[in-house]
Amino acid sequence: MTRTAQPAVAGGNPAHVDRDDAIGTPPKSPTLVPAERYHSAAFARLEVERMWPKVWQVACTVDHVAEPGDYFEYRCGPYSVLIVAGDDGILRAFQNVCRHRGNSLCSGSGSELREVKCGYHGWTWDLSGSLRRVPNRKGFGALRMSEFPLLAAKVDTWERLVFVNLDTDAIPLGEFLEAVPNDIAWCGLDDFRCYATITVEVDANWKTIADGFSETYHIQTLHPELHRCMDDVYAPQMIWGHTGKSEQIYGVPSPLIKEPLSDAEVWDAYVTTQGALMGLAEDTAFPADERRAGQSVSDVIAQRTKAFATGRGVDLSWASTDQILRLHQYNVFPNMSVLANADHLTVLAARPGPDPDHGELVMILWMRMPPGAPRAKPADMRMTTDEAHPGLVLSQDIAVLAGLQRGLHQPGLTHLTLSNEERRVINMHRNLERYLDLPESARMTGGETP
Ligand code: FES
Ligand SMILES: [Fe+2]
Repeated sequence: MTRTAQPAVAGGNPAHVDRDDAIGTPPKSPTLVPAERYHSAAFARLEVERMWPKVWQVACTVDHVAEPGDYFEYRCGPYSVLIVAGDDGILRAFQNVCRHRGNSLCSGSGSELREVKCGYHGWTWDLSGSLRRVPNRKGFGALRMSEFPLLAAKVDTWERLVFVNLDTDAIPLGEFLEAVPNDIAWCGLDDFRCYATITVEVDANWKTIADGFSETYHIQTLHPELHRCMDDVYAPQMIWGHTGKSEQIYGVPSPLIKEPLSDAEVWDAYVTTQGALMGLAEDTAFPADERRAGQSVSDVIAQRTKAFATGRGVDLSWASTDQILRLHQYNVFPNMSVLANADHLTVLAARPGPDPDHGELVMILWMRMPPGAPRAKPADMRMTTDEAHPGLVLSQDIAVLAGLQRGLHQPGLTHLTLSNEERRVINMHRNLERYLDLPESARMTGGETP
């Protein structure tokens, strides 16, 4: 792993490397996206036929399948993929189906799997997918074992994320991720360890969920506390192809807030929304005495973050204030977002539910650990929206979803009306249209470049 320090920012203060804002060049008119895509059963069927079996999807983490015999069942809508670490240490993925009469072979996750045995009539495969046993085999006549391996799916890893693709002809994962791996290489994501995944069952389409982590436009209204400690104006966005990015500086108030905020007020907002990154309780007061001459609130936050890391044996002395307080948020089509800075990693995914009005928000949570730290098996939890309390900001994101989904059904709402500030949402739709091969008449309109 290489970790190249970014150029230090003068004075240690967060400064905008460029002054690009989140809006960029405004289009001539808004982009109009048909609302039906968010609730139509026919549209969801098209996604299940043409998109989900063709794309790379984050399934679990290396921490879930690190040892031979570890397995993890990944589900997405009707699809189920079994990821297995073989006796040879190689990760393999298979469609989770028995070649006899179609039973699902495994569910959930676990360890010490020695073989894959169907629970219905007992056909059994080894961990590399070769059929080894068929009870009462002579009843089938000439049954060639070699013709019935488990059906393969593609599997690959990027950093400690495990991705699968049901399309065995798919482009390599590295190509699918485009510029993302290089862009975040400085961060050393390999040193993070997953400690938990939380899957929240929500009353919303997977796109309704994914849109919420594809734009910063909603922060001023939905996240008033966060707005007091992050810059949502000079938050430049990039679109590569399947992927895109937003950069956001934390530890400063939004330029949209007109009244001046004191350092203590910015600190309070930061501690309320993400104090856990410094190991602090929500009501911890601003430690004014820790501030040295010329230091900003951001410098104090960075110092505290480093001290908290030191307590876990993590050396963050290489990281600048900017590297700790600039959030790099990536979107990978169709449904994943990676949020990272020098001491923070969260991966979010949105998955389809049993019908277009239901979906899953998956939060994959990580902690930076000393280099080479052993994995601990993540705790995987599934819960309802009422049970989920993933902190103030994510709770606000979740609370809006059911009303959003209900609103999308109202007959007068034919289209969503999107700003260039929401161009990562627009880009998701652009890619979706390509996979679904929608006719011209069903595509989005507007958004022309001036
Ligand atoms: S369905 Fe699996 S052995 Fe019969
Ligand atoms: Fe949000």
